[in-house]
Amino acid sequence: MDNFWTSLKKPVLALAPLSGITDSAFRRICKGFGADVVYSELASSTAFAYQAQPTLNIVRFNDSERPYVVQLFGHDPEHFAIATRFVTSQIRPDGIDINFGCPMSKVFKRGAGAALMTNPPLAREVIQSVIENTHLPVSIKTRTNVQGFDLLSFLESVGDLDIKAVMIHGRTYAQRFSGPNDFETTREARARFAGTILANGGAQNPQTAFELLEKTGADGVGIARGALGNPWIFGQLKSGLHGGFSERPERSEVLRTALDHARLSIDLKGRRGIIEMRKHLCWYLQQIPGGKKFKQAAVKIESLQDVEAFIDQAWGNGATG
Ligand SMILES: Cc1cc2nc3c(=O)[nH]c(=O)nc-3n(C[C@H](O)[C@H](O)[C@H](O)COP(=O)(O)O)c2cc1C
Repeated sequence: MDNFWTSLKKPVLALAPLSGITDSAFRRICKGFGADVVYSELASSTAFAYQAQPTLNIVRFNDSERPYVVQLFGHDPEHFAIATRFVTSQIRPDGIDINFGCPMSKVFKRGAGAALMTNPPLAREVIQSVIENTHLPVSIKTRTNVQGFDLLSFLESVGDLDIKAVMIHGRTYAQRFSGPNDFETTREARARFAGTILANGGAQNPQTAFELLEKTGADGVGIARGALGNPWIFGQLKSGLHGGFSERPERSEVLRTALDHARLSIDLKGRRGIIEMRKHLCWYLQQIPGGKKFKQAAVKIESLQDVEAFIDQAWGNGATG
């Protein structure tokens, strides 16, 4: 098995999965600005088991994204087995991740995502099923506690399985996506887990990402919302690790990147790519002084020409390079 996790230089800077956001276009952009590894959005193992085709679009990728990890969610070990075989042979990513952290009710109430942490025997079966059906390294993404089921006991209960990496969202199920990060639990996970540990949660900028690494002692960091409109965060953090955080990108670089992103997104997804680009443009605008006033135009784009006109307007000098 080629375990790419062990060949990555530490600290590992990962683009964490974001449903509806970390698609191939955005992953390519983040990879281009220094992400060491990128995750797909969560993809349903059950959907793969019944009809793989629509879910394929979620996990398709380009070689430039490698190392690339496909994240699966679900609750049925058999569905995971089918999905894992399919992803391994047809998609050929570098790793497969299992979601143990999603708190969304449509996922949770089916016993998937974070709910799996409350059922250690089933969680074991799921992990075993994935490991047995792939030669790729298998990783998991967890929370610190789900309805009284804590991460450290969870890691102990699956400690004998060949899990290569864990990304720990340092919050409980009850916290959902806000509130303080429990750095200590991630730090303590080291005694229970020998593979790569990525700390996640609250890395909104290079400084807080740096703090997350320092306070948890993790091998790397998973950055999710901090990368929205700011794929530069990976490079900024890298330079911070070497002594000084780099400057924010110039207005022209932000807008040029937004345009590249839009071209990719539209190329890959057509009309859907345009709609999805609206929110990305709003996030990019947060990077530039006075960008807010262009939001109204960003949410109305209907074509690549609209994006180009929008960029021209926001750039202020008419040049799109
Ligand atoms: C809109 C949204 C979508 C998310 N989708 C996923 C997902 O598909 N898989 C997953 O494991 N976590 C998902 N997460 C959780 C993030 O990966 C991450 O754990 C969380 O946002 C905390 O990290 P951050 O503070 O860097 O954003 C999602 C979070 C948000 C806000």
